[in-house]
Amino acid sequence: TERSLVLIKPDGFARGLTGEVLARIERKGYRLAAVQILTPTREALAEHYAEHVGKPFYEPLVDFMSSGPVTAVVIEGERCIEGFRSLAGTTDPTKAAPGSIRGDFGRDWGKAVQENIVHGSDSPESAAREIAIWFPGLA
Ligand code: GTP
Ligand code: MG
Repeated sequence: TERSLVLIKPDGFARGLTGEVLARIERKGYRLAAVQILTPTREALAEHYAEHVGKPFYEPLVDFMSSGPVTAVVIEGERCIEGFRSLAGTTDPTKAAPGSIRGDFGRDWGKAVQENIVHGSDSPESAAREIAIWFPGLA
């Protein structure tokens, strides 16, 4: 059965949306395999966002993601990688469909980075890589 790495980003955590996001994951039928609250280091974020290093939004992204606590979650279930990205909605919260997490709770705040509440792995390879970063002890 598939696993995905979900992050409830600092904006979602600060706005008290952690329970809402976890509830949506559970109501969809995915299992929670691991949950942890932490403030990410810039080093962990450099690994997590390796594909974005050098892009114009990279530094604002790392500033934002290291600005406060996040909840890291491993979810489990058949096709949960694709399924969670559907729950999350498209990257730009202004365009994300109502009914999705980003569509229901996200908006443009006029900042250098798109604050969009959650992250979800985008492939089985990314999920394995990201789970190893945030949960190095997880079997
Ligand atoms: P994640 O689930 O967070 O990985 O989002 P994603 O897969 O929908 O987006 P992607 O991996 O392409 O980008 C990672 C994060 O960088 C996004 O969630 C945004 O917070 C930010 N980001 C991505 N593209 C842009 C962009 O074009 N402009 C700005 N300002 N921020 C961006
Ligand atoms: Mg991504």
